[in-house]
Amino acid sequence: MVVQRDIENREDIARLIRGFYTHAMQDELIGPFFTEIAAINLEEHLPVMYDFWENLLFQTGAYRGGMMYKHILLDRQKKLEKIHFARWLELFEQEVDQHFNGPVAEDAKSRARSIVPSLYLKLNPAFLPMTRKE
Ligand code: HEM
Repeated sequence: MVVQRDIENREDIARLIRGFYTHAMQDELIGPFFTEIAAINLEEHLPVMYDFWENLLFQTGAYRGGMMYKHILLDRQKKLEKIHFARWLELFEQEVDQHFNGPVAEDAKSRARSIVPSLYLKLNPAFLPMTRKE
């Protein structure tokens, strides 16, 4: 049996995120967002993702923000639907569980679970109760 340990540092985050992108980019449903629509440059994009997750999990202050803007642009090119976010989350949670086990790993999954609906709502403000016209 492989003994899993918790996410401890940036190297662990890099392992998690690289694995996630390997699977996400090959995924039939969400892969094209990365490979065709945004056609991301992995070498540039991955370190930004490491900063983002390192900041969330270990409060490093590394990520400079601007995440919403990127997804607004993406959503304009091709609509990001609930089904895409659900798949993103499924792949992310699978990736965490495959490599790690512990409170930080649980924190990573719970952060992802709360960011997904908030990202979706920000892209679709008509669903927000306070913006709905009764
Ligand atoms: C279906 C769901 C998603 C898709 C298809 C997607 C796709 C992408 C793509 C293509 C980019 C690169 C944009 C660019 O540089 O041109 C990006 C950036 C990013 N995404 Fe997502 N994303 C999704 C959900 C999420 C979620 C749930 C999170 C957070 C938990 C997230 C966090 C980020 C961050 C931090 C960046 C970097 C923004 C920056 O450059 O500062 N994404 N995403």
